[in-house]
Amino acid sequence: MGRLSGKTAVVTGASSGMGKEIVTLFAKEGANVVAVARRKERLEELAESLKEEEGTVLPYPGDISSKEVNEAMIDFAVEKFGALDILVNNAGIMDGMEPIGEFSDEKLQSVFNVNVYGPFYATRKAVNTFKAQGSKGSIVHIASEGAYKSCAGVVYSASKSAVVTLSRNTAYMYKNEGIRSNTIIAGGFATEISNSMGMPNMEGYEKLKLSMATMPAKVGDPKEIANAVLFLASDEADYINGAELAVDGGWGAA
Ligand SMILES: NC(=O)c1ccc[n+]([C@@H]2O[C@H](COP(=O)([O-])OP(=O)(O)OC[C@H]3O[C@@H](n4cnc5c(N)ncnc54)[C@H](OP(=O)(O)O)[C@@H]3O)[C@@H](O)[C@H]2O)c1
Repeated sequence: MGRLSGKTAVVTGASSGMGKEIVTLFAKEGANVVAVARRKERLEELAESLKEEEGTVLPYPGDISSKEVNEAMIDFAVEKFGALDILVNNAGIMDGMEPIGEFSDEKLQSVFNVNVYGPFYATRKAVNTFKAQGSKGSIVHIASEGAYKSCAGVVYSASKSAVVTLSRNTAYMYKNEGIRSNTIIAGGFATEISNSMGMPNMEGYEKLKLSMATMPAKVGDPKEIANAVLFLASDEADYINGAELAVDGGWGAA
């Protein structure tokens, strides 16, 4: 029996990086998982590679900036597996390190669509699904040191601050219903996230160098995020609610 046996989870951003490792670990620990991202082939490969594990992985291709996709992925999980127990709001994109004087309207819109609107729609749907089921539930968000310190542009950083607030407010509002909401504060990890950045803004990049210089020598492995998410999602963390857990090698302590 795995640590998530019998649970159903929806994980966004499952086609690479942290999300892929979260889905992998969840399936090994017995969870049935709906794996969400835009790249369908990647999701299908992942599901195929995990078919011998205790949990079943079902791909759910879709764009997380759409309200309809956020709602439908949770309905799909309930339809296929009978209930929802865990939501992991992991999908995210970077900005281009722009300071406030330099960001474009398009960048603000696209980053907030994925990093903020997506988690808001998904969390609302998950909470209402847990309430309708009369069950407990666990939501884990992936934020960043950028929520607290200047290590990215203002748009990305503010989007992750919004996620921290979304999580804490949800935790407080539903604490008596057994619905938990916690956040991972990620440091620097070897994933594909820089592909979403494009050419960095040079003014921002130069200014952020000082903050980057305090990063730990070792870049994080996305499996380390998966371990922390597993703990927060599981019943082992039953009394942990509204927390931020830094997985950053000590960067945040700088
Ligand atoms: N890597 C780091 O150093 C770091 C640090 C702090 C926080 N984080 C956060 O960690 C989370 C995971 O990022 P990662 O580092 O693992 O990056 P990644 O390898 O680029 O993975 C991002 C995932 O999000 C998905 N995604 C992006 N836009 C999407 C959209 N519109 N609709 C659906 N899915 C979308 C991508 O899939 P598709 O492209 O297939 O849609 C991909 O699966 C993000 O929230 C990120 O902000 C990362």
